[in-house]
Amino acid sequence: MTSVHMPLSIVPLTGSLVPLSSLAELLIETVAKGGSVSFMHPLSTPDAQQFWEGALHAASLGERIILVALEGAQLVGTVTLLLNCPPNQPHRAEIAKLMTRAERRGRGIGRALVEEAEKRAVQLGRFLITLDTASEQGAAGFYEKLGYQRAGEIPYYAYKPHGGLTGTILYWKQLGPLQEFEAKQ
Ligand SMILES: CC(C)(COP(=O)(O)OP(=O)(O)OC[C@H]1O[C@@H](n2cnc3c(N)ncnc32)[C@H](O)[C@@H]1OP(=O)(O)O)[C@@H](O)C(=O)NCCC(=O)NCCS
Repeated sequence: MTSVHMPLSIVPLTGSLVPLSSLAELLIETVAKGGSVSFMHPLSTPDAQQFWEGALHAASLGERIILVALEGAQLVGTVTLLLNCPPNQPHRAEIAKLMTRAERRGRGIGRALVEEAEKRAVQLGRFLITLDTASEQGAAGFYEKLGYQRAGEIPYYAYKPHGGLTGTILYWKQLGPLQEFEAKQ
């Protein structure tokens, strides 16, 4: 049977837009399936909820933008744009915590999330995006498809969710000509 999906919307996460339990479920599932998003498997619900509570607090302070992908009211993905850069890097932002529900992968949700994060970065004068992704079981191919440049690899950087060390690959992307951004300052 073919399942019918509601249209996709990508919106900033605020307060009670998405239940904490759904956010926690997405993070727990991502980790369980080997996604390198800073946690080890098994991730408990309280720990996952605590992460999101902290993230929502940081978002309320303007230190990050958390975007969620919704099909109707259902959470199907998320990405975070970290804005809390040092004073000498006001033009930079970092992409983190990109996750698509396992059953919804390969439908363009991840791309839509990153493109919206990039759009918002540009609006905020952040023309340089940096990120890192695990060398093993990471999303290097995904980011390369979206135009990210590989800067290099650091070996033995982190444990994979199910154990065993992996390196991390650093990526960057310039979101437009430097002069355009300097002209706006
Ligand atoms: C990485 C992730 C977010 C991609 O989400 P998604 O919704 O499946 O991505 P999309 O459907 O938008 O894919 C966009 C393109 O990238 C490709 N792609 C997706 N994941 C890929 C991967 N791991 N390696 C290579 N290419 C990949 C898709 O085939 C698609 O190609 P196309 O445009 O030619 O059709 C998802 O696999 C995920 O949640 N992984 C676990 C968590 C994780 O690793 N996050 C990144 C941490 S830095």
